[in-house]
Amino acid sequence: MTVRVATLGDAHRVAEVAASTFPLACPPGTRPDDIEQFISNVLSAEHFENYIADPNRAVLIDETVDAHVVGYAMLVSGTPTDPDIRATLSHEPTIEISKLYVEPTQHGSGAAGRLMSSSLSQARESGCAAAWLGVNQQNVRAQKFYTKHGFQIVGTKKFVVGVQTHDDYVMEVRL
Ligand SMILES: CC(C)(COP(=O)(O)OP(=O)(O)OC[C@H]1O[C@@H](n2cnc3c(N)ncnc32)[C@H](O)[C@@H]1OP(=O)(O)O)[C@@H](O)C(=O)NCCC(=O)NCCS
Repeated sequence: MTVRVATLGDAHRVAEVAASTFPLACPPGTRPDDIEQFISNVLSAEHFENYIADPNRAVLIDETVDAHVVGYAMLVSGTPTDPDIRATLSHEPTIEISKLYVEPTQHGSGAAGRLMSSSLSQARESGCAAAWLGVNQQNVRAQKFYTKHGFQIVGTKKFVVGVQTHDDYVMEVRL
């Protein structure tokens, strides 16, 4: 398994992993239509081509020797534009770990830890003092994972999936 920065040729494979793993982060009761809408509006291969080409973002993938993508993370540079999120954060410059998703067969395997370590290393190398993320308040496994990597809950925010608004925690780590 290796973590590397995704290239445009990876967009379709990352989008497949994104579509299959996004529902795992949604709280029970999330409507399938809303999940489908989010996947087509945010996680299509075309969107990943744009994310990969965006100089303010980095898409990292964890893949096997035979090029099977088992997970991915996406970093977004810069101070968040939402003033409510900005108010919860204590350190700048910062970077958002906007997505971190791993196939269920690889949960507990260390794949997510590799993606997180690479994300935090990349953030440090780019001069960031901290990283932050949003996580659904019912996603206890992810919260525990982030806590293991030094993140602390610093506030709350909303996250829109289709027509529903979900409640997230904002978590931050000093680098
Ligand atoms: C979140 C995610 C990346 C974490 O990766 P992971 O490999 O599952 O993480 P780890 O196993 O290293 O850590 C999870 C911890 O939660 C624990 N855990 C597992 N299920 C749990 C549950 N239902 N409640 C509380 N803790 C739980 C695990 O035992 C582990 O703790 P430990 O290392 O002390 O034993 C991965 O689970 C994932 O991709 N989930 C689906 C997508 C997702 O939710 N992404 C995050 C969006 S913000």
